Amino acid sequence: MDIRPLTGGLGAEIFGADVRNRAQFAEIHEAFAKYSVIVLRGQNIAPEDHLDFARRFGPINVNRFFKPVDGHPEIATVLKEKDQKEAVGEGWHTDHSYDQAPAMGSILHAIEMPPYGGDTLFVSMGAAYEALSATMRGFLDGLTAVHSSRHAFGVTTLESEAAKSGRLGNAEAATQDARHPVVITHPLSGRRGLFVNPVFTTHIEGLTADESAAVLNMLYEHCRQPEFQARVRWQAGDITMWDNRATWHKAINDYHGFRRLMHRITVEGVALSN
Ligand code: SIN
Repeated sequence: MDIRPLTGGLGAEIFGADVRNRAQFAEIHEAFAKYSVIVLRGQNIAPEDHLDFARRFGPINVNRFFKPVDGHPEIATVLKEKDQKEAVGEGWHTDHSYDQAPAMGSILHAIEMPPYGGDTLFVSMGAAYEALSATMRGFLDGLTAVHSSRHAFGVTTLESEAAKSGRLGNAEAATQDARHPVVITHPLSGRRGLFVNPVFTTHIEGLTADESAAVLNMLYEHCRQPEFQARVRWQAGDITMWDNRATWHKAINDYHGFRRLMHRITVEGVALSN
């Protein structure tokens, strides 16, 4: 197995791996823990293999809103057809941060890719946190933020292209609200990092609405710096797995007129603490 870091901040590409090979799992797991985002090139596998690989990390956390893959209710379809305009996951986010125990990781398998574009960007929330001043880190420490699925997947989104086309559904199930520390200690590595994101975080408790929006926007602008990012360029067959407690991600919607189809499995996580 050949493991090559993508950037100084996070992410690694892995060549010569086969996710079906149990004997390689310990090394893949170690790379995942170290780099937070791993890109396993050339995995031409069946959905059952994808599920087996995910289950080695933990129980599957079934997404409530994404259209499931036919015959595989535990696998979510991430799709944009060639005549559609909106991609799923275009805003910077952390999967399932609206749950009490947010998903530990997500495992995305590229099934059909456009001839160009359709990359995914990632941010290291640990690197972003460490680059803040000690004074700002002290201010954020101990604060709690609220995350919700309601505005992102609920009935107010029924007119969106993604809902109308059936890529997203089950809007009435979007009732999740969760409180998490603004700064978490990563449950595995112990590294401290920010845990707020532009799509699901609604506000910081104990601040006025204006104060909360100002602090969150300052943090979001800070996190978006290229120094904290890695960009994954996909080929059909690649698998990228990321740690939702350590990263943000965003799908780049720059391939209009072409189809992009991915299969995504999310793995259960734990409640987060400061
Ligand atoms: C996601 O947000 O989980 C999907 C990311 C992507 O399609 O690149």
